[in-house]
Amino acid sequence: MDYETILVEQKGAVTLVTINRPQALNALNSQVLADLIHAFAVFEADPAQRCAVLTGSGDKAFAAGADIKEMADKPGADFYAQDFFADWTSKLVKATRKPWIAAVNGFALGGGCEVAMMADFIIAADTARFGQPEIKLGVAPGMGGSQRLTRAVGKAKAMDMCLTGRMMDAAEAERGGLVSRVVPLADLVAEALKAAEAIAAMPPLAALANKELVNAAFETTLDQGLLHERRVFQILAATADKAEGMAAFVEKRAGVWQGR
Ligand code: CAA
Repeated sequence: MDYETILVEQKGAVTLVTINRPQALNALNSQVLADLIHAFAVFEADPAQRCAVLTGSGDKAFAAGADIKEMADKPGADFYAQDFFADWTSKLVKATRKPWIAAVNGFALGGGCEVAMMADFIIAADTARFGQPEIKLGVAPGMGGSQRLTRAVGKAKAMDMCLTGRMMDAAEAERGGLVSRVVPLADLVAEALKAAEAIAAMPPLAALANKELVNAAFETTLDQGLLHERRVFQILAATADKAEGMAAFVEKRAGVWQGR
């Protein structure tokens, strides 16, 4: 299917989604949101697709934020009435149980940083720059920046970023735990696809479960989280893929997964 603001390619079991508004530094307007929700729903529904990568077109930006031009003249009350930004979490993050990776190829500012943090992990180009500059516009993060950034890098750096609006480069983002790996810009998409292919080759139920468990760590007490983890382990132990995975290890061969 053709979209107005994104490109979608299937590469084997991996879906590559590219935000494609380079002239606006891939700013996230409502059409980008609608297109991403649709593309991720298609990815989620297709059993042959096991992992996705989200990146931005061009070398300059992953996404430079929510579209300021779209928001500038919007009547104030509409933001509240429409619960503006709510669909990013409810229709994209929560609706996607399969793993996906953000490949950040330049500026990831405001909503751009927030969308990257919605991914299961971030692989950054060495040119990537992260920031929550909303304060300079008289607002604050609205798509998770104050919450997900604080959980990722802790209070000191999150406060610094949100209050000064300064950018973090890729090296600082990796040191702070915001990104999992930094790679040369020229290798970014290939490296992200390689990571996605490795995930896509895993037993599919175990991939869903591992994602769910790590995310649960942000929502629960240690005791509840440990109980949840044991129960999920015990459920996975009853799957055909567990029997195959352990047999394949013992027999020194690759496992063949059934997803059940
Ligand atoms: N919304 C709409 N358009 C944007 C945009 C955005 N967030 N960011 C960049 N653009 C547009 C520019 O208006 C410009 O368009 P024109 O050529 O038509 O003028 C084009 O992209 C190129 O941008 P610049 O000329 O500004 O490029 P630069 O290299 O000089 O600067 C930049 C790059 C530092 C990223 C700068 O564009 C910038 O500061 N962008 C805004 C960043 C920002 O404030 N993001 C937060 C938005 S609010 C938000 O996201 C709320 C939330 O929490 C969800």
